[in-house]
Amino acid sequence: MSNQNSQAPARVSISQLSSWKKRGEKWAMLTSYESMTANIFDEAGIPVLLVGDSAGNNFLGEENTIPVTVEEMIPLARAVVRGSSRALVVVDFPFGSYESGPESALATGIRFFKESKVQAVKLEGGSKIVPQVKALIAAGIPVMGHLGLTPQSVHALGGFKVQGRGVDGDRIKADAKALAEAGIFALVLELVPAELAAEISAELAIPVIGIGAGPRCDAQVLVWTDLMGMTAGAPKLAKAYRNLRAEMTGAILEWTADIASGAFPDSEQTFH
Ligand code: KIV
Repeated sequence: MSNQNSQAPARVSISQLSSWKKRGEKWAMLTSYESMTANIFDEAGIPVLLVGDSAGNNFLGEENTIPVTVEEMIPLARAVVRGSSRALVVVDFPFGSYESGPESALATGIRFFKESKVQAVKLEGGSKIVPQVKALIAAGIPVMGHLGLTPQSVHALGGFKVQGRGVDGDRIKADAKALAEAGIFALVLELVPAELAAEISAELAIPVIGIGAGPRCDAQVLVWTDLMGMTAGAPKLAKAYRNLRAEMTGAILEWTADIASGAFPDSEQTFH
């Protein structure tokens, strides 16, 4: 008897992402931090959900991603896995959970696999973290890379600015190649010149996912609260396709006015 749950629909696999790259099919990755949005995005057909450590500033009320911990990310990632059935769920390794070496990276990866049941992890950094990437992949944990503007290093980078202009682009190209050779299945490029992102996308066999990296990447990622117009002061790299902040404020004003006038609850919400 098989111990696989044959009722469970198959999630998108890393080999599917690889075949989309070969066919030149573009796709979307979207962040999610809890089960309800995960369910909506999954049903809308988003193939990859990222439980980003952008949860720090978009969900947990922090100034940036640096204070986020593994303890905080585990329940968020578990909720996204529970809320979705088709998407591949990737979780970000928070700052401080992998830098010291392959052992700490492996310990973090194992916790996320066992306690959140995600299908892959994402790490920020280049050649320096190749030993961590190799240890994770050897243990059966697929790894997504992240280069360019890496928000966990915002202080070292001197702020949220475009990375890889001029000769610095060669460093990012070398890092991308080193990570690809180490076996990552996809690479996020954040806030880099469009020409550099296009060159890296053309050179690598794995999908390159852009955010503020121009249109010639294999895929695009956005923070969901930016996409939906929830974030006050969203970054320039994001496009708001809706204004949910205004929608929600409008609904609240209507509801509170109805309470004040006695129009809510009406007979439909009243029980006898
Ligand atoms: O944490 C995050 O949301 C990310 C994306 C912006 C790529 O890393």
